[in-house]
Amino acid sequence: MKSKATQDLALIIFGASGDLTYRKLIPAVFDLYKQEALPSNFAVLGVARSAFNDDSFREKMKDGIRQFATAKDASDEELNTFCQKLHYLSINTDDGKEYSKLKDRLDGLDKEENTAGNYIFYLSTPPSLYQLIPKFLAEQGLNNEDKGFRRIIIEKPFGTDLKSAIDLNASLLENYEEEQIYRIDHYLGKETVQNMLVTRFANGIYEPLWNRNYIQHVEITAAESIGVENRGGYYDHSGALRDMVQNHLLQIVALVAMEPPMSIDSVSIRNEKLKVFQALRPMSDEDLFKNIIRGQYTASNIKGKYAKGYREEKDVNPDSRTETYLAMKLFIDNWRWGDVPFYIRTGKRLPTRVSEVVIHFKPAPQKLFPQSVDLNNDENQLVLRIQPDEGILLKTKMKVPGSGYQVKNVNMDFHYSQLTDTYLPEAYERLLLDCMTGDSTLYIRGDALEATWKFVQPLIDFWDKNPDAPLHGYPAGSWGPNCADDLIEGKGLTWRYPCKNLSDDGIYCEL
Ligand code: BG6
Repeated sequence: MKSKATQDLALIIFGASGDLTYRKLIPAVFDLYKQEALPSNFAVLGVARSAFNDDSFREKMKDGIRQFATAKDASDEELNTFCQKLHYLSINTDDGKEYSKLKDRLDGLDKEENTAGNYIFYLSTPPSLYQLIPKFLAEQGLNNEDKGFRRIIIEKPFGTDLKSAIDLNASLLENYEEEQIYRIDHYLGKETVQNMLVTRFANGIYEPLWNRNYIQHVEITAAESIGVENRGGYYDHSGALRDMVQNHLLQIVALVAMEPPMSIDSVSIRNEKLKVFQALRPMSDEDLFKNIIRGQYTASNIKGKYAKGYREEKDVNPDSRTETYLAMKLFIDNWRWGDVPFYIRTGKRLPTRVSEVVIHFKPAPQKLFPQSVDLNNDENQLVLRIQPDEGILLKTKMKVPGSGYQVKNVNMDFHYSQLTDTYLPEAYERLLLDCMTGDSTLYIRGDALEATWKFVQPLIDFWDKNPDAPLHGYPAGSWGPNCADDLIEGKGLTWRYPCKNLSDDGIYCEL
């Protein structure tokens, strides 16, 4: 990654003893350090209740870097030098009186490390602290930007419904300007997600076709092969709607559907994304019945090994009706997208881990050639693969060599792996660096956050009021409830069944 001009600063991580810090944040900061992207004077202060000190915190983080950083094979010397920049403070983060210790420690760090009073506070804590920590910081004057910048990064979930999201925003805005608040959605940090803007707006050939006149429907998938792992306690109260749809999937919808921004800056891009959320057609009662498929994985055998059902997972209610799969048809009511269905789906314990967008184009207006009879979904498709095997694939038709005019679909594909010397940064690297430079383009603005909750709120209400609303079981390792295919309008149309490799699809492939 190219080094940008960053000012000297301290990154203060609340929840520093947790998994995110260990697996993602510190490894990402180390990778930035390796690329010389950090400012010359830089320090990390881990804050949590657990009783670490500077040394034991450094040891733990070293271990995290060795396992999870891209530059995991850095020399011991580099790792030790970097770790000298890591510090730790143990306080009761839910007790406002303890924050004077934090203030003193930061004053000390400014002197020792020359961090110039510029602070980024990263809230990697349980959401119950999202209102308290910013308030306690403000009580110590740590929201005040007279002596340096003061930014807050907040992890999802930002609220659990529309009301709590509005409350959270309002509480943050009591002490901070919107420009100081960085709501992180790690999907936006993915290189391939950002590339959607470039694919759409740097090429002259796609944008003229990118509308209701040429696009039949849009399909967005975020499939995972893992189950809920050790997060049952959280997930059982969240489900796929809150965990993936309200945030990651709707963010991708916005990037696919937005109008060209006036320029590549935070205000223009985020304004255009907001307009998409505002144009999402509100779901009627009928839509809630017809256009949503909920599923929950059940026990099965995957590759000869027993795979637990969701209700057997640790910390999950044995009668749980939480959805681990969600497919939805939605519409964007504006001139570009009027009546073009967007199908989005996500699920745990699906056959493979893959996230992608498929743009399905309308058929040629005249059927001059014999139809390929055995193919579903045989019209042109543009696949924007987010992960894995990152790349782009265009399915286009060609003549089968020989007599007559037999037509066949072929793939024109580009894989990031073909760019030999190119480094694909991890999402957290990009996002942390952006916050350091004050660029909020890839963070969620408060108004957009509320607009996405507004869209999903009817679903939450509907499921609350109708606990018996259909919830389909699907065997772990399958593509989710069968009836999800019926969502897709049009004869012979189904979801694409993607494989690990971008260029393969179908029910039988390498996973
Ligand atoms: C997180 C969800 O936001 O995204 C997880 O809470 C999910 O449940 C994860 O596994 C998926 O992210 P990625 O980057 O692996 O697609």
